[in-house]
Amino acid sequence: MTIQEEIKIWKEKKDAVILAHFYVDAEVQKIADYTGDSFYLSKIAANLPNKVIVYCGVSFMGESGCLLSPDKKVLMPDINADCPMAHMVTKQEVDEARAKYDDLAVVCYINSTAEIKSWSDVSVTSANAVQIVKNLPNKNILFIPDKNLGRFVAAQVPEKNVMLVKGYCPIHEAISLEEIKELKAAHPDAEILVHPESSKPVCDIADYAGSTSGIINYAAKSDKKEFIIGTEIGVKYELEKQNPDKSFYFPATPPVCKDMKLITLEKILHVLKTEENEASVDDTQAKAAKATLTKMLELAK
Ligand code: 13P
Ligand code: SF4
Repeated sequence: MTIQEEIKIWKEKKDAVILAHFYVDAEVQKIADYTGDSFYLSKIAANLPNKVIVYCGVSFMGESGCLLSPDKKVLMPDINADCPMAHMVTKQEVDEARAKYDDLAVVCYINSTAEIKSWSDVSVTSANAVQIVKNLPNKNILFIPDKNLGRFVAAQVPEKNVMLVKGYCPIHEAISLEEIKELKAAHPDAEILVHPESSKPVCDIADYAGSTSGIINYAAKSDKKEFIIGTEIGVKYELEKQNPDKSFYFPATPPVCKDMKLITLEKILHVLKTEENEASVDDTQAKAAKATLTKMLELAK
């Protein structure tokens, strides 16, 4: 029996569903029931009938799964898969901004710990951040923890005072402008599609900057046949699956999130069998953290 067949049997036995982010390995995406970006997966996680969710992603995603589906068991194939950016803001930074501005809204990227969410007013993902910040009544916004996505949002809501902290995604920030330019020189007809977690020079040179799903949808709708992609390499699988007639070029130094790559078929099978690695959120943080996610889902409708 193949490991894929074994996973299927255990999934049915445990009434489990497998969610996978586009950044995990292709072989994991292939066996998932749902693949998507952070926004899509959080919407799905809130409305599943199954008893068990196997969340193929990093720990903030498992926490979000627990918060949105408190009656479910959320299992993480690798409990050490964590997003470094999810920790890159302090309570002191939030408290100082709150003390300074009476009308402050603290907007936290979903790539943040449940604790950070519990200090915030609303969560956002890269797919809905501009829309949500634009529609908040507050003029003063503290955007945490991603300075790059925050800067990208700020540029599109000039009527607001958007303040940033110093967090960043090490994988997207390392995408090199020079390597993108080299690809463009080699493929002059290609459109450049990047994730807004990338640096400003990389976003500025792009034809489109948007969430992982935004990039996939753009490539599918475009008349062009070639694309230079500035995001995590795992997305290549979905891009090629949806567009077998199009070519996708990644930077010479491929953007690889080593935490997402910790998820393997063997680890998925192990947690299905043992129900080890259950995600959890501290009771003292859960109510406030959940409120930021439900507010996001309402405001993004
Ligand atoms: P999205 O899924 O919102 O595109 O975010 C990308 C990411 O870095 C997830 O960790
Ligand atoms: Fe975090 Fe970046 Fe990895 Fe996404 S790609 S999980 S933001 S380190």
